Amino acid sequence: MTDLHLWGHLPAEGRGRLLGRVVVVTGAAGGQGAAEAAALTREGARVIATDVTQAPGCRRLDVTSEKDWAELAAGLREAYGQVHGLVNNAGVTWRARIDGVRPEDMARVHAVNVTGPLLGIQHLAPLMPPGSSIVNVGSSAALTGHYPVAYTASKWALRGLSRTAAMELGPAGIRVNIVHPGFIETDMTASAAPAFREANVRETPLGRTGTVDEITPLVVFLLSDEASFITGAEIPVDGGLTVHGGAKSISDALRADA
Ligand code: NAI
Repeated sequence: MTDLHLWGHLPAEGRGRLLGRVVVVTGAAGGQGAAEAAALTREGARVIATDVTQAPGCRRLDVTSEKDWAELAAGLREAYGQVHGLVNNAGVTWRARIDGVRPEDMARVHAVNVTGPLLGIQHLAPLMPPGSSIVNVGSSAALTGHYPVAYTASKWALRGLSRTAAMELGPAGIRVNIVHPGFIETDMTASAAPAFREANVRETPLGRTGTVDEITPLVVFLLSDEASFITGAEIPVDGGLTVHGGAKSISDALRADA
């Protein structure tokens, strides 16, 4: 247990909504996961930041590895006896289209984006007392027919997992929700073509991309007791990207003609 990273200090700006709670975050080496770990820490949580990539302050955990999850669960049981929160944030994309995607691409993306969260839930839920909360990180791709088919199919599958988990864990007092980020500025989106960014901005009613700090308040809220009767919910944080079903370009075209 010596390598578990504890972020348990409480800087002034936090409201202490997660004081004393033990929360695991996956994919926390950078991007949204690192921001979530920092925000949860500000609220008083003892955050165990994990990632498959070695990073300062992160425990190494590959979400696809049953062994890694079993070791983490055993360590947490020994150190704290309980776990109160899990953020299934780790995810990978693969930008092949239908005509180019291979079965092994589908399997690899599914393993990280769907089986990973399932393993996390399976290993940590037994340590969770009533009032605990799990947040899965989906995507606007899970609400649309986004072109990278392996990624899109995996995030739709994660919606199914979230709903089933909300139903199955409800009697134990464990809540499960899913958030759907739109285009957020991280390494993942930095690797996309400029046209991808421009098209996203064009299709987003708020007319811009989002930041990691616009995702974290919702994750904190869902982990806290303020969300005590919210489970099975799916919440987009996307500047309106998924609300219009394609009607934005129609509206924009007519406005330009007027
Ligand atoms: P990112 O690429 O910056 O961070 C993802 C993290 O997951 C990385 O630190 C990576 O090392 C880690 N990871 C990858 N495979 C892993 C594995 N097998 N085990 C453990 N960790 C692993 O991307 P970002 O944007 O921070 O992504 C966070 C989540 O948000 C992902 O689930 C992603 O699909 C989702 N998302 C991101 C959007 C965006 O615009 N950035 C939009 C919608 C959803």
